[in-house]
Amino acid sequence: MEVVDAWERYAQGRTPRRDANASGAKTWLNWTQYADHGPDESILGELQDRTVLELGCGTGCNLAHLSTLGAECIGVDIAPSQREKAVARWGHLPGLTFHTAEVTDHLCRTDGPLDVVLSVFGPVWFADPEQLLPLIRKRLSPGGVLAFSHKPPSAGSEPVGTLREARAVTRWDYTPEEWSALLTSSGYSNSKAEIIPPPKGQEVGTLLVRAYT
Ligand SMILES: C[S@@+](CC[C@H](N)C(=O)[O-])C[C@H]1O[C@@H](n2cnc3c(N)ncnc32)[C@H](O)[C@@H]1O
Repeated sequence: MEVVDAWERYAQGRTPRRDANASGAKTWLNWTQYADHGPDESILGELQDRTVLELGCGTGCNLAHLSTLGAECIGVDIAPSQREKAVARWGHLPGLTFHTAEVTDHLCRTDGPLDVVLSVFGPVWFADPEQLLPLIRKRLSPGGVLAFSHKPPSAGSEPVGTLREARAVTRWDYTPEEWSALLTSSGYSNSKAEIIPPPKGQEVGTLLVRAYT
């Protein structure tokens, strides 16, 4: 409950995403902490008729975009109010469902193949990856992809697994090399972990990882 409360507090403090991005698009996928920056959904490969699961989907804005591209989309978030906001904003889109659940529990209690699993500053960063990565791997279909992003671990940061922004929330701050090793030991056949440079005037980039079955 402490973790749910922490994420509820986080949800209450968030400003809703804009109605349109800099190019005028009403839906888009943003992997980084900066608006209008970084790669788009093309790094996920084909999306039409693919089954997509987003871990920690928040208000569902990224997932809604994938739904408009023809994917069957499932979003999971631990904070109940995030689901309410996601349904209110995106509930009219076909092939898009939102659930309130902890992601490890959700993966243990559901079945069926997934083609794409993504986490944008989401639970791959906040749930024990030694449990989570093999669970995702088991569900990925042949040719499936797991992609996730988060802030890179900064120099002098606390060791992995210590409490951070919210007292109840643990964060797994791995380097690209550490993620690659963990993904290999979790059964992924290849992976690419990189730091996307920040936009001009900013100092912190974004760690982006893709891993394949
Ligand atoms: C930093 S926010 C990112 C939200 C969204 N992906 C975005 O890019 O705007 C992290 C989200 O993950 C959710 N979350 C954190 N840990 C979770 C877990 N173990 N299971 C499910 N959701 C979780 C939080 O409630 C929150 O909505």
